[in-house]
Amino acid sequence: MLKQERWVVQGVASLRPLDVSVPGDKSISHRALIFAALADGITHLSGVLESEDCLHTVAALRQLGVSITVSSAGNYTIQGRGVGAWVIPAGVHTIDCGNSGTLMRLLCGLLAGQPGQFCLVGDTSLSKRPMDRVANLLAPMGAQIRTTEGHAPVWIEGSALTSADITLSIPSAQLKTAVLLAALRAPGVTTLRGALATRDHSERWLQYIGYPITYDQAQLSMTGCVSFQARDMAIPGDFSHAAFLMVAAALTSGTHLTIRGVGVNPYRTGLIVALKSMGAMVTCENEADWGAEPVATIRVTGGAPLKGVVVPPEWVSNLIDELPVFAIAAAAAEGRTVVTEAVELRVKESDRIVALVRLLKNLGIQAVETAAGFEVIGGGGFRSGTVDSLGDHRIAMSAVVAAQVGQIRVRVNNVACVATSFPDFRDILDQWGVVFSEENSRCNISQ
Ligand code: S3P
Repeated sequence: MLKQERWVVQGVASLRPLDVSVPGDKSISHRALIFAALADGITHLSGVLESEDCLHTVAALRQLGVSITVSSAGNYTIQGRGVGAWVIPAGVHTIDCGNSGTLMRLLCGLLAGQPGQFCLVGDTSLSKRPMDRVANLLAPMGAQIRTTEGHAPVWIEGSALTSADITLSIPSAQLKTAVLLAALRAPGVTTLRGALATRDHSERWLQYIGYPITYDQAQLSMTGCVSFQARDMAIPGDFSHAAFLMVAAALTSGTHLTIRGVGVNPYRTGLIVALKSMGAMVTCENEADWGAEPVATIRVTGGAPLKGVVVPPEWVSNLIDELPVFAIAAAAAEGRTVVTEAVELRVKESDRIVALVRLLKNLGIQAVETAAGFEVIGGGGFRSGTVDSLGDHRIAMSAVVAAQVGQIRVRVNNVACVATSFPDFRDILDQWGVVFSEENSRCNISQ
């Protein structure tokens, strides 16, 4: 199938009422597949996100000898290989992580203690992202991980690991999970301290399967080399997918949006806090526990006037992946919005500070890049224009939301990347009433 490289999107004055569920959570899908591979016995997962990133995780595990079958969309059965040493054929195994930083960093943790030689590679964007941070973090446990000047390809020589007392200086759930995965192969108690207040999907999963782990925001401790039984799980809808719909709905008068079965882990839902503080009408109902994770129905009623906000630094981790689409809300809000202490945005699928400020400026919005964040002066109105996603799925989808919110026409270049996380995005927006047209239709966009 040919991948579409460009969308031309026209925002509309009113959207149909939309009652949907969004595809499974990306972070949880990666983790659920990997933890299932480490369990004793068979795990059935439903709601696995079938985006390119997660399909790379499925392929990587199969390459490592894990049997995974798919009975229908999102329903996966994994035959666990246990936490013990896996028998992996001799020779260097080159594993393609595609665009997925999560997969590459989690594999570093998974494979550091498995007997074998591995080479992790990725696409152009992933090959620019920092990997020395994971190699350095796991080194005190005895991990032998070599990067290519700090980047992929990453070479792993699986070795015997020891438990350690590690302090995380970067607030990164990928790094935290890499340590947890390595700790599963290290006899004794591994302790983590420092920047732990990030998404805790791995910790919740380990508790759900009864693994000896305790954690709070100050300290995490877990015992290595304990085997555990497989346990089935339904993966909640991805809050980060829901976020694009939420911002579009909040800023389109008369809109009623309902999203069911969305994961509302507090470390992920900073956008709800931020939008509410700006005046948006957002509610969470029917809260329930789906095994390891809380889920809810999110409702948004459009049209409330928003005002800009100075984002407190403690919101940033819980909002990190939503900052591009949050910037669209800021552009539509009256007044100044300021985001600081978000330097991690510079090492995502693109330098998101550069990408989102450029996006806003191309659509007529005043925005300024700062060293570790950005400022937006909202309320001046959007104008039609062209946005390059820079190969970053969240920038591409934010540009589509900007078209809807501003009721303008936006040409979004470089959109194939949307398939890495949210292949159904365009279909859902089509169904909602946003107009996607072909490039050669009448359009009034400056290059
Ligand atoms: C993720 C953690 C975050 C997030 C990424 C997914 C995860 O990255 O931005 O999209 O699944 O652990 P960092 O850990 O680099 O902050």
